Formats: sequence, C-alpha cells, structure tokens
Amino acid sequence: MNFDLTEEQLAVRDAARDFAQNVLKPGVIERDEKQIFPAEEIKQLGELGFLGMMTDPKYGGSGMDAVSYVLAMEELSKVDASVSVVMSVNNSLVCWGLETFANEAQKQKYLPDLASGRKIGAFCLSEPEAGSDATSQRTTAIDMGDHYLLNGTKNWITNGNSASTYLVIAQTDVEKGHHGINAFIVEKGMEGFMVGAKENKLGIRGSDTHTLMFQDVKVPKENRIGEDGFGFKFAMKTLTGGRIGIASQALGIASGAYELALAYSKERKAFGKEISKHQAIAFKLADMATDIEAARLLCLKAAALKDAGKDYSHASSMAKLFASETAMKHTVEAVQIHGGYGFVKEYHVERLMRDAKITQIYEGTSEVQRIVISRGVLKD
Ligand code: CAA
Repeated sequence: MNFDLTEEQLAVRDAARDFAQNVLKPGVIERDEKQIFPAEEIKQLGELGFLGMMTDPKYGGSGMDAVSYVLAMEELSKVDASVSVVMSVNNSLVCWGLETFANEAQKQKYLPDLASGRKIGAFCLSEPEAGSDATSQRTTAIDMGDHYLLNGTKNWITNGNSASTYLVIAQTDVEKGHHGINAFIVEKGMEGFMVGAKENKLGIRGSDTHTLMFQDVKVPKENRIGEDGFGFKFAMKTLTGGRIGIASQALGIASGAYELALAYSKERKAFGKEISKHQAIAFKLADMATDIEAARLLCLKAAALKDAGKDYSHASSMAKLFASETAMKHTVEAVQIHGGYGFVKEYHVERLMRDAKITQIYEGTSEVQRIVISRGVLKD
C-alpha cells in the first residue's frame, strides 16, 4: 500500500492552499457576516480549473482525479466552506452527473460553460416534504409530447440564484414510484421558473441557498437525462460521488479549526506556560489530530476507489459520516481551546463551528449515511 501523493496531486493541493490563504482568507469574515456570495472568488477558481476538476478537458474540464479533488476541497474548506460548497456541487453533482449520464449533445451544450466556471450549476432534489425520503417527490413533469410540463417546489438549493443550469428531479409517473422519476436540465430564464428568497443560514452564509418554484415550465424533451425512469438512480449515483466532496469539505473545516487551535495553544500562556503544555489541551489536540487523519484516510480511500472504477458507495458514506461528525465535534473543541477568543469572529473558529453543522445534514444526513452503511454491513 502506497500513501504517497503524486507530484501533480501535491501541486494541486499547494495551489488550492495558496488560493485559500491569499484570496479567500482576507474577506471571509465579511462575506460570512453580510452573506455575500463569493462571485469574484468563484470566477477565479474557475480560471484555475477548480470548477470542473474531474471533467474531461474535451468538455472544458481539468481532467484530474478524485484524489486531487479531495485535496483541493480540504484546503479551500479550511478557510471558506461557503466557497467550497459551490465548488463541490458544481464539480461532483452537476459536472460529474452530466458527464457520466447525459448524452453527447447535452454534454457539448452544457459542460464547457459549467466545467470552466463561466456558469455554475445547481442540483435540485430536496422538497418541502422530500428530504431524506427522497423517493417522495411531489414535483411533477408531465409528458406533453415534445416537452414536459414541470410544476413544483424545490427547497434549500445551493447556488439557487447564482446558478444558470439546474438539474431538477421530478416525478413523471406516480404509479411507478421511484421508477417513475426523471432528471431534467432546466435553464434559468425558462418561463414559469422562479427563484424564491435567500435563506438566512447558521453557517456557509456566503453561499446562496434558495427555494425554487416551477409553474408550468416547458422543459424540452431533449433535456431529460438518460432513459425514461432513470431519475432516481441518477440522483443516488450522483450523490454517491457528491458525498466524497462534502466529506472533504467537513475534513477541511475540521483541519482548519485544528490548525488554528494548535497555533493558538502554542502562543497562549496560562499558569506560567503555553496552554499546549497542559495535558488538558495536549490531549484534546491528540484526539483532534487522530480523528482528522482517520477522516482524511476515509476521504482518500473513497476517492481512490472512484478513480480505480470500483464501487465506492459505502466508502463515500463512511467518509461523509465520519468526517462530518469529526468536523462538528472538533470545531467545538477548537472554540473551547481558544476560550473567550474563540467566541468572537476575528479568530475564525466560531465560523468553522457554524459551518460544520451543515455537513451532517446536506447530501444525506448522518442518519441517511448510517442507512446506507448498515444496509451494506447487513446484506447477505
Ligand atoms: N446507486 C445506485 N442506485 C441506488 C443507490 C445508489 N447509491 N441507492 C439506491 N439506489 C437504487 C436502489 O437500488 C433502488 O432501485 P431498484 O428499486 O431498481 O432496486 C432505488 O434506488 C431505491 O432505493 P431504496 O429502496 O434504497 O430507497 P429508499 O427509499 O430506501 O432510500 C436512501 C434510500 C439512501 C435513504 C435515499 O433516499 C437517500 O439517499 N436519501 C437522502 C437524499 C439526499 O442525500 N439528499 C440530499 C439533497 S442534495 C444536496 O444536499 C445538495 C446540496 O445542495 C449541497
């Protein structure tokens, strides 16, 4: 077993680290506080090739592997998880979903803009009454011959307003249950497509999360992805890869908080010595370092399986479950190590603690990951 990263992978990690420290860090507190979407930062990320990292260069992507994607996600998420969620959704839900399951005409039409970051995409599955229970779709798409008529509401959509291209999951035949679900490419500006108010969130406040409404939207037949009835499998397979992205985001949030806590503990003195020399703090740091390394290995394993063309569905759920629980647990500890300073914005750890929470919820809650993992453990 070889744990060494290649020179290309190390170069990607270093480029992401430089970008995070030099471009993202200066404005991150203000963007969080005022809920400013990082439009300029996303544009620059696109120019660096980070918005279609795994997409084939013939469609405008960077053609990198999933391991590089994990490394980049970790570095960016150490500093700004609002930026990294935009990157994760665009890369693993939108670009990967289209490249893997769309037809050639759809790929040529949509991927070059999305993979280069000239436009960004959104993935629309969740509904007011269909979150974890994703088969209970109420949004309908009725077959009208040359088009589908789309009606319904989608909730908590990342890139809800900033996106131009939306992958929308809808029920086309209620009788068939999840076999009667399809996925469609919907463009902003289609008549009857409305973007609702921006959510005022606990964390990842720079990202724009919206409710979307569809009222008699005519979606051309050629915008359906895959065979009739493929939509639920499309969503599940795409989310399986997406969970590697969110696991890496959680890993980055945890390791960002750990690095800040470690540095602070070596500077801050109490009772005549640096607080890192008190066992109460040193043991916290030891636990953080161990859990973060375990989370990193789970993320890299899931990515390596994906790169090798092997089944990675359980590995990605394990990575997401463990990394997101680690992020929540250890960002709380990072605030504790900082004491009163940890409670104020200038020290960054309170934001990382707020950002950590969503990683236990989106792209499948921790409970959903346990469903997937336990089914794998118990099968046969
Ligand atoms: N790959 C391929 N197929 C899969 C699959 C996978 N990973 N998981 C399930 N399927 C298939 C099953 O084989 C089954 O197909 P057949 O009937 O043909 O055999 C079908 O899908 C239904 O599967 P289940 O019976 O397992 O379905 P279920 O109702 O028990 O639900 C679940 C399973 C795992 C809980 C699923 O509903 C789920 O993942 N829910 C969470 C949804 C989610 O992650 N939402 C996140 C929203 S997107 C988001 O957050 C993005 C963002 O903005 C950041």
